[in-house]
Amino acid sequence: MKPILQVLDGQILKRPPIWIMRQAGRYLPEYRELRSKAKNFLDFCYRPDMAIEATLQPIQRYGFDAAILFSDILVVPDALGQKVSFQEGEGPRLDPVLNIEGLGQLKSAIDLDHLAPVFETIRGVKSRLPASTAFLGFCGAPWTVASYMIAGKGTPELAPSRLKAYSDPVFFRRLMQLLEDASVAYLVKQFEAGIDAAQIFESFAGALPANMLKTYSFDPIGRIITRVREQRPDARFIVFCKGAGARHDQVALATGANAVGLDWAVDEIWAAKHVQKHSAVQGHLDPLLVVNGGELMDQRVDQIIEAFSQGPHIFNLGHGIVPETSPDHVERLLKRVRG
Ligand code: CP3
Repeated sequence: MKPILQVLDGQILKRPPIWIMRQAGRYLPEYRELRSKAKNFLDFCYRPDMAIEATLQPIQRYGFDAAILFSDILVVPDALGQKVSFQEGEGPRLDPVLNIEGLGQLKSAIDLDHLAPVFETIRGVKSRLPASTAFLGFCGAPWTVASYMIAGKGTPELAPSRLKAYSDPVFFRRLMQLLEDASVAYLVKQFEAGIDAAQIFESFAGALPANMLKTYSFDPIGRIITRVREQRPDARFIVFCKGAGARHDQVALATGANAVGLDWAVDEIWAAKHVQKHSAVQGHLDPLLVVNGGELMDQRVDQIIEAFSQGPHIFNLGHGIVPETSPDHVERLLKRVRG
């Protein structure tokens, strides 16, 4: 079986398998070259020939243990009829959805036909992947995606969506429900097209007050996983709740995740005791240590592997790799992890 799937099933391997978040990205010269040929970022995501190549680039260069679909969490609002674009160097921009009337202008359900190129990409990657390489699909969690839909862009503390949850709970819950239903339909289709497992990105878990984390993050993610498994009983999930801090120990129990992603801020000694007893863990090297490279990076790699050696562990960074990273440092990281 593919090593990553073995770990998701709870096995402890001698060395942890490895992939890295945002492994297809601007730190790779071959990615930048491919990117320069696309009209814009969304067009890139919807061109199966290009998206297949971008997905495979880090596999060809490094032989990671998993490929992750090249796409973005914001194709879901796009497939709901919200206008989405990516401004060069500024990140995503969306026409904000602010109230029930705004919701009424969106589609009442996700348009899966609009995402047909994504499923074609999945089938194309599937037929080209080495047998031992796992293939991961993904989506954003409802709170994270709703935050972009409401604010129209990334905001440091998510004030627009946090405030909406208080000021217009009827609208906010309806948007969350729309995203929950959309995520179920989208993930089932990804599994049908050939992914082996899916990661749910809750990049903004850390912006939710602790008393709201269960209602707006863990519970919706848990319902998505349960509902996908009603149709795909063997579907495996990694849930990454960035910033969940001391509540990381609830993620697996609350959501049914096979693995819990750990950000770079978590204490791995604590996580080995309190998170890894419920599920596999994935993480959690600081991406800036890969920018730095050298012995400092090697030492932290050893510490993380040692801390998680008594349970199932997938090596990864604590968030996405940053564009400033030298590809040579990634090579060194891989050698160190593989021993
Ligand atoms: O991991 C991978 O290699 C797979 C592809 C992937 C992308 N985005 C490609 C991408 C995945 C899994 C994502 C998820 C994603 N997208 C998240 C969740 C993970 C996280 O980082 O917290 C979020 C919040 C987004 C939204 C998003 N997309 C932002 C904020 C940005 C701009 C910031 C940036 O890095 O430029 C994007 C654009 C984006 N998504 C790029 C890539 C490779 C860069 C765009 C480019 O190449 O021009």
